[in-house]
Amino acid sequence: MKKVRKAVIPAAGLGTRVLPATKSMPKEMLPIVDKPAIQYIVEEAVRSGITDILIITNRGKGLIEDHFDRAPELEAKLTGGGPEKEAMLHEVVDISKLANIYFVRQKETRGLGHAVNCARWFVGDEPFAVLYGDDVIIGEDPACGQLIRAYEEFGKGVLGVKEVSREAIGKYSSLKVSPIRDNLFDCDDMVEKPAPDQILSLYSILGRCILPPEIFDILDQTPPGANGEIQLTDAMRTLARREGMTAVDFTGKRYDMGNKLGIMQASVEVALQHPVIGEEFRRYLKELCQTL
Ligand code: UTP
Repeated sequence: MKKVRKAVIPAAGLGTRVLPATKSMPKEMLPIVDKPAIQYIVEEAVRSGITDILIITNRGKGLIEDHFDRAPELEAKLTGGGPEKEAMLHEVVDISKLANIYFVRQKETRGLGHAVNCARWFVGDEPFAVLYGDDVIIGEDPACGQLIRAYEEFGKGVLGVKEVSREAIGKYSSLKVSPIRDNLFDCDDMVEKPAPDQILSLYSILGRCILPPEIFDILDQTPPGANGEIQLTDAMRTLARREGMTAVDFTGKRYDMGNKLGIMQASVEVALQHPVIGEEFRRYLKELCQTL
């Protein structure tokens, strides 16, 4: 079995739920305390054993490319500036060394399935991970790595899933699952943005999957679905019905950086754990809470 060493991060959406912040800035660059969302995602991939990453961008996402590049002027300014500046220098340079990072543009915003289909040349005939560019997952054991282990054990495409509420599931997907053991399930059907009478279970795909290269031929044949977009879920449904997939209820806290509340939850919770500002922020928050 081929190892999963490549990852694709689709980051070419329009981010309309986070306007006006995303009018000219990609939502993937929104900071969680002091790091942009997409850096957390790249770091998760690297901690999971991924060596090559393709980020799907579009017009106006040059900031993402700059973030993973060297920054000679900034580096010169930080050089020889005392221990704190030196530490920051290393941090800034290290970002450009995290992995082999490539970029390709999705020329029209035609949906997540269409974005992933832009990665065919990069993936070749290997299994690969997809990490949605606006889903940050923070945890000891990287979520992508948990999915890779399930791929290595069962040899089928893998979905990262969590239970969501009945009220919210219409915004996500719904999976037909049967338990294998612990947090692992077989999945042989799914529906994107289910109407109330289409709900198969409250398990929904949240932000991560491992796909075999056969997904590209399926994507080529997948017509536009919900919202008139080519949905990755529709292609994965074909795969699940054909050969089954494995679902992993992953550990780790997921933050949806595609909506305003998710962004605030990520900022507050990560700030509370931050080595430099954590304690002070906790004191501030406790004081603030008393006034609410
Ligand atoms: P979303 O549906 O959350 O992205 O897609 P969006 O279109 O930016 O959202 P809104 O509704 O307008 O706020 C999930 C992921 O897929 C990427 C997005 O960048 C996000 O990381 N995506 C979506 C693409 O790369 N291309 C697309 O055509 C659509």
